[in-house]
Amino acid sequence: MPAPNIDTIVSLAKRRGFVFPSSEVYGGLGSAWDYGPLGVELCNNVKQSWWRWLVYERDDIEGIDSSIILNRLVWQYSGHEATFHDPLVDCRECKSRMRADKLEGYFPEGDQRAEFDANARIRAGLVKCAECGSTNLTDERHFNMMFRTMLGAAADENDPSALAYLRPETAQGIFINFLNVQTTMRRKIPFGIAQVGKSFRNEITPGNFILRTREFEQMEMEYFVKPDAEHLKLVDEWVELYVEWFKGLGIDAANLQLHEVPKEELAHYSKRTVDIMYRYFPERPEEERQWEELMGIAYRTDFDLRSHSSKPVDAEGNRINPDSTEDLSYFDETTKQRFYPHVIEPAAGVNRTVLAVLMDAYSEKTNDKGETRVILKLSPQLAPIKAAILPLAKNKPEIVGMAKAIKRSLQPVLRAVYDDTGGIGKLYARQDEIGTPMCITVDHQSLEDEAVTVRDRDTWEQERVKVSDLAEHLQKRLKPYPNPLPEPV
Ligand code: GAP
Repeated sequence: MPAPNIDTIVSLAKRRGFVFPSSEVYGGLGSAWDYGPLGVELCNNVKQSWWRWLVYERDDIEGIDSSIILNRLVWQYSGHEATFHDPLVDCRECKSRMRADKLEGYFPEGDQRAEFDANARIRAGLVKCAECGSTNLTDERHFNMMFRTMLGAAADENDPSALAYLRPETAQGIFINFLNVQTTMRRKIPFGIAQVGKSFRNEITPGNFILRTREFEQMEMEYFVKPDAEHLKLVDEWVELYVEWFKGLGIDAANLQLHEVPKEELAHYSKRTVDIMYRYFPERPEEERQWEELMGIAYRTDFDLRSHSSKPVDAEGNRINPDSTEDLSYFDETTKQRFYPHVIEPAAGVNRTVLAVLMDAYSEKTNDKGETRVILKLSPQLAPIKAAILPLAKNKPEIVGMAKAIKRSLQPVLRAVYDDTGGIGKLYARQDEIGTPMCITVDHQSLEDEAVTVRDRDTWEQERVKVSDLAEHLQKRLKPYPNPLPEPV
């Protein structure tokens, strides 16, 4: 049973230290969130799982960490300055500001979808405000979503030479480093470059908790292949691998769905994109409105490497990029051919993955007393805390001492905590709610037999384990890394 809605997770996340509204002491900041002690662990575990899966367990992917602020020309030649914008409208009745292309009636039905006049449709009253249903909307305006900043302490706000952007995707930092990585790591195509890090977009309608925010984290990988590779098939292969990865994180396949992005909605660089969608809105009665993008897998062609290269020319023979000092082409030693590699890009969001993982792990169980308890059935690899050591009597120094010693002995092997801030029932309930797979109770008997009770989060079953066997026992119970190893494509 996943969470019935996002609000259930918002409340659990705040109550238990996963995610807090940002800047709360000053009344908050719309759609900004801070990750608390458990949230940061969960995010780190998601990122580590991804990094290990791609960079360590495959032989064909390298990692990098590029700057957030890049030369402005990167965004000029990537096409983001000219095209990375959303259409914005205001409702004259309720004063809401919205993304026009998300509104009912914006796109015409069927074939006419590719070419249409959005403002003509708005003026004809065909497009409806999402808040109040009015059709009294302003014309759409295009709004670039990149955050601007000025470089230099004394830079003038209107000085174009000081203008820079916070990156809206991590991908461009990979493209501009393609040759650096390829040559230093002596890579042959096909190979990939992975990067995880923050991206920023001045979203018109951020919202739904950590689903859409202006500052977020991406896990992107650019996979470089030959120009004659089977690109569209490779997209499908990466989609399958990622679906398996999400399932390995504990997400139920029933809550995942694929969406072939229609041609007219493709980003400027994409020839094909398949989105993996998650059921973030199970409470919505219409099934088609329950889904939102978790990640996308795009075929970006050779668009980016070409755009950033010094040599390519247009139909008139003019260099398409007179500013670049490098040619990001690749020389194939076996065929003796030089070409711009084509790219398959799986681009995932850390925050959306975390939200999907939390929603899918949420469950409720009734205890003997008829009370409902929340259990967060997080996959052990993602659980912020792997084991909680709980003394049955906190006023008994021998029991407390033994519990603390067990905690210390486990710490180098796995993340363990000691907690004596309540009765045992309350302590179990708290650990269940934050997804701790194992609780270890030290009782009076432990002082005699050097054994402890190990309680399972999901079944509430208990077993007695010798302290000397505990670390090994827990490591077995926490299961090894569960993802299937994807074969290089
Ligand atoms: N480089 C390609 C790219 O950035 P995208 O579909 O715009 O593609 C990839 O973004 C992923 O990044 C999304 O599928 C989503 O998981 C995450 N993402 C994008 N915008 C986001 C936002 N405003 N808030 C949270 N996550 C976001």
